[in-house]
Amino acid sequence: MKTVRFGVIGCGLMGREFASAAGRWFHLAEMDVRPEIVAACDVNPAMTAWFGAHCPACVQQTADYREVLANPDVDAVYIALPHNMHAETYCAAIEAGKHLMGEKPFGIDREANCAIMDCLAKHPDVFVRCSSESAFFAAPQRIGRMLEEGAFGRIIEVGSGFLHCSDMDANKPINWKRKLEFNGEYGAMGDLGMHACHMPFRAGWLPTRVAAALCNIVTERPDGRGGMAPCETWDNATLLCTAADGGGHEFPMTLKTHRIAPGHKNTWYLDIMGTAACARWSSKQINTLSVMEYTGGDQAWQVLDMGHETAHKSITGGIFEMGFSDSILQMWAAFLYELEHGAPVSRFAGCVTPEEAAYSHRVFTAALKSQANGSMETV
Ligand SMILES: NC(=O)c1ccc[n+]([C@@H]2O[C@H](COP(=O)([O-])OP(=O)(O)OC[C@H]3O[C@@H](n4cnc5c(N)ncnc54)[C@H](O)[C@@H]3O)[C@@H](O)[C@H]2O)c1
Repeated sequence: MKTVRFGVIGCGLMGREFASAAGRWFHLAEMDVRPEIVAACDVNPAMTAWFGAHCPACVQQTADYREVLANPDVDAVYIALPHNMHAETYCAAIEAGKHLMGEKPFGIDREANCAIMDCLAKHPDVFVRCSSESAFFAAPQRIGRMLEEGAFGRIIEVGSGFLHCSDMDANKPINWKRKLEFNGEYGAMGDLGMHACHMPFRAGWLPTRVAAALCNIVTERPDGRGGMAPCETWDNATLLCTAADGGGHEFPMTLKTHRIAPGHKNTWYLDIMGTAACARWSSKQINTLSVMEYTGGDQAWQVLDMGHETAHKSITGGIFEMGFSDSILQMWAAFLYELEHGAPVSRFAGCVTPEEAAYSHRVFTAALKSQANGSMETV
């Protein structure tokens, strides 16, 4: 089994999710390549110490990401830092020749994203992908297969989104994700948007026009020091887009990213309506995929239990449902598989490409313009 030696830069929530996936790599049944975490970087020493305690090969622990990039024993890096650090660190990693899994939104804004894309164009030998696990659940994978088979006919309408209620509590102290400086002007779009774009973009449905309704609902929060701090970023974004299906037809596509969505702790959803079939999935009922195939008779929905129908085989029995950490494991399997073999096992089993991430920036930038001008903007 080939080993790819990783440095993790940003050892918070997502950095540790990767460590956990790497730690149970034997869960994957047929991989011929595996990650080994040999370096950890975080300005918070408690975070790097966690890696030292839990990842046996993690011999380098540092607060300076440049030391990880200078380490010849590091083949690849996972960078899971606040958005204001993306352009600087992703470019430095690419220039150092390290393969890169970068976190979304892949640059705090379009300018930062363009800098990353320019850097990547100069270093085409470095393998770079953007993290988004939303397509790796069983139901989206099945929808992907239906799309590859052309099962939907002509697309009538698509809805894709990611809904949270994590900021419903107005007394929750502010964190970097609510601050313009660290999270960026996109707000909820930068934070959650790549997940909503992942399946539609891979299907080839790129928004051509966008009308945005952006809301800032909780305008200040406790600052954690007894005072209040302004909450500067958009809480909720609803984007009504026009997308093209590749066959010359346009259809409406709604992309929703809400941080204040009552009753939704963490809901990914995808609704596709076509002339030949429809599909509906929400991670609220993670194991359930609803499909309606129209053959001229009754229009009857079928409800399927998905079980563990994953792109990369695992030791979990096929009847057992998936969870968040399984989708993360699948995403990492997809990254390493494509790094090793040059292509994903199937179209919808590939991680988000830099080009797809770049297109999301075009959409979010047009959405900001739409909100400012009260207009529908061309993407
Ligand atoms: N794919 C997903 O589902 C998902 C979920 C949450 C967050 N994210 C993305 O992951 C990235 C990180 O988010 P998170 O939730 O893990 O954040 P986090 O706050 O939990 O972790 C970020 C870590 O970076 C460290 N850090 C900050 N500045 C640093 C610097 N200059 N050098 C080294 N370390 C530094 C912090 O100490 C912290 O431990 C963001 O881009 C976010 O959008 C992705």
